[in-house]
Formats: sequence, structure tokens, C-alpha cells
Amino acid sequence: MENRRSFLKKCVTACAVMSVPGCVTDPVTPQSFVLKSRHPKTALVFWYSQTGHTERYGQVIARALEESGLAVISGDVRQLKALSMADFDLVVAGSPVHYYDAPDFLKSWVAGIDRIDGAGVAAYSSFGGPGNNQYNTACTLLQGLAAKGGVPVGIRSFGNMSTFAPTWSMGNEARILKYRHLPNQETYQRVARFAADVLEGIKTSQFIEPDRKFGLDEIMRSFPMVSGTKLMVGTHTIDSKRCVQCGICVDKCPVGAVNPAMAVVNTDDCIVCMGCVNNCPEGAVTMTFMDKKVIGFFAFLEHQGIEIETPEL
Ligand SMILES: Cc1cc2nc3c(=O)[nH]c(=O)nc-3n(C[C@H](O)[C@H](O)[C@H](O)COP(=O)(O)O)c2cc1C
Repeated sequence: MENRRSFLKKCVTACAVMSVPGCVTDPVTPQSFVLKSRHPKTALVFWYSQTGHTERYGQVIARALEESGLAVISGDVRQLKALSMADFDLVVAGSPVHYYDAPDFLKSWVAGIDRIDGAGVAAYSSFGGPGNNQYNTACTLLQGLAAKGGVPVGIRSFGNMSTFAPTWSMGNEARILKYRHLPNQETYQRVARFAADVLEGIKTSQFIEPDRKFGLDEIMRSFPMVSGTKLMVGTHTIDSKRCVQCGICVDKCPVGAVNPAMAVVNTDDCIVCMGCVNNCPEGAVTMTFMDKKVIGFFAFLEHQGIEIETPEL
């Protein structure tokens, strides 16, 4: 991601000043700062996760809330069944940072939920390496939940190995491997503490304003990152000789762009989330980025002998 980021940063710096007005904030004022309960009994913890980091953090939060006596429903938004949103006293949302922001799929999902007036709401993001715009990514979710009537009580970000496959595929392994030890048990303790802090915030009515932080990363968010990245992708298809029709790429693709039966990827629809190439267990998703073959996240982990530390749930 280093090459892409520094290239894009150079491009935008020149026009950053002109871009600032109107592009850096999506102000949302919570309709009500009145919680429906200072002693929440029910919680929803949802996330969107392509390679497991955001999911593990969500699971830790769900478990911590359960241990505090709440009845919790949790899961990836793509797996959650119909929900009665008004039943929840607390709603926690999690997202990876994708191109300096929460993925559009998740933003749309949040925009589509029913009202949650008076529920405590919290958001977290998971980010790669040193991170880009991780606070504001969580803020995107928090603003979305506040727009539905939620009362913001918590926001946090957790760092780990990046899953942006072009970075190591283009030879910049060092940037990724610097964070090979993350997440670790300390990360998971911080995640569990976040859940405890959220409950404390509700108990003591410590509400927060979901205000975005200004900075270059926030300006970057306003640029067409996906189409810019797509310009660097050459081949993006499926090798039918390797494909075993397991369907993982279909499940992971948020825009329905992958069709393994026909061995094609609709590159017009593709949003370069890397979900297909990162998760294919057979290396059958063939992608090139600036003429280099893209190696998926799990293949990279295996090649490097890295096992992601899991939380003690
Ligand atoms: C397509 C893509 C774009 C990404 N963009 C960013 C970014 O802008 N900033 C950042 O800090 N991390 C970025 N990352 C890294 C992910 O946010 C990070 O690895 C995250 O923890 C992945 O979560 P998941 O395993 O739940 O999918 C990106 C990863 C991918 C695959």
C-alpha cells in the first residue's frame, strides 16, 4: 500500500486546500441524548470482515458484553438474519478501514437499519500497519448509528497486519511484516476493555460527539480511491483449472462481481476489496497489480509461516 499511498498523497496535496470545504465532514447531531436504559440488557454487535480481524474483535466485544450479563446477538452483517433493531439497548458496529473509510457496503447496511432511538451506540475499526484514517472510519459508523437515533458512547480502533495484498505482492513485505505480531493478546485485552468502557459510558452517561478529525487522510477519503486503484489492476479473472467451485469468493464479494461457474470477474462492478484474491484457498483468483501477480492474504501468511493469534474466548 506504501507505493500507492505515497503516489496518491503527492497527487492530492496540491489540491488539498481547495478540497477542504464541504468534503471532510458529514455532521450528524444525535436526535436525542437520552438513553433508553442505563442498565442495558440486550446488545447487537455487528461487523463486516473480509479476512477475520474485525470479526475477531467483534467476537471479543460480544463475549465481554455477555460476561457482563447482556443477551447478545452478533455476526457479520452478511450473515445476520432479520433483526428487530428496536429491541437492542446497545448496538456496536465494526469495520475494517478500506481506502481510508468504512466500505460502502457496510455504510449502506447501516443506512438501511430501522431506528434505534435511545440505544447506546459504539463503533470500532480495524486497520493495517501504521493505519490511515482509522478514527474517522469508526466515526463514519458512529455517525450512521447516531443518525438512526443512537446515543454515541464509544469509539476505538485496533491495529493489526494489513490485508492490502498489493503491498507485499509488489515487494514491500517489510511494511507488512513489521506488524506480523498483531493482533496479540494485548490487542484483545484492549478490545475487551473497550466493551467495558462502553458499558461504563452508558452507566455514567458519558456521551461523545461523533466528530471527524481533520487531516490529510480524511482528505484522501474524498478522492476516488477505488477507481484510482483499479487503474493499477491489470488481469483480474479466475483460473478455471485451479478453481474448485468452493464459493468463498462469491460469499466475500460485496458487489456480486465474481462468477466462478463462468470463471469470470466483472471488473466494472469490482470495488477492489481484495476479498476474492485474499480468501481463495486455491490461488485461483488471478490478479495483477502494476504487472505483479497478487498473492492473497492467507497464502502470504502461509508463505511467511505466520499464524494469526486468536483471542481466548
Ligand atoms: C482493499 C483494502 C484497502 C485497505 N485500505 C486501508 C486503509 O486505507 N488504511 C488502513 O489503515 N488499512 C487499510 N487496509 C487494511 C485493513 O483495514 C486491515 O487489514 C483490516 O484489519 C482488515 O480487516 P478484516 O480482516 O476484518 O477484513 C486495507 C485493506 C484492504 C483489503
